[in-house]
Amino acid sequence: MLIKKEDIPKVSNMDMNIIHEVEVELVNKLYDALKENNIEEAEKLFEEFLREVEDHFSEEEEMMIESGYWARAMHKAEHDTMREKLNNLYENWKNNKNPQEVINFLETEYAPWLNLHISRWDSETAMHIGDSI
Ligand SMILES: [Fe+2]
Ligand SMILES: [Fe+2]
Repeated sequence: MLIKKEDIPKVSNMDMNIIHEVEVELVNKLYDALKENNIEEAEKLFEEFLREVEDHFSEEEEMMIESGYWARAMHKAEHDTMREKLNNLYENWKNNKNPQEVINFLETEYAPWLNLHISRWDSETAMHIGDSI
């Protein structure tokens, strides 16, 4: 397991909390498959994970546009940086199928990033949009 569910910071919008939980469940499955060196399973879960991340980010970006959140460009820029890193990681994975490289990224970049990002950006965005959307 990469991230414990109870360690995900909670924000004041339930939809966002649910999205985060679903993503963490999936990344944990991916992480376990990589640890077990199950390449076929990891391949499938990696693609699912990328789709989930895209849903997560684009849903938040839509909510920010609908609610006219003033700092949406900065919040989106954070998503874009992670999008690019994950795309590069996936490109490398397709070429070398090296589980350790993905494990390292998830441990040292993705997991700490997610925690900080939710604490900093998602929580403030959630306070702005409230629980109504
Ligand atoms: Fe988020
Ligand atoms: Fe976000």
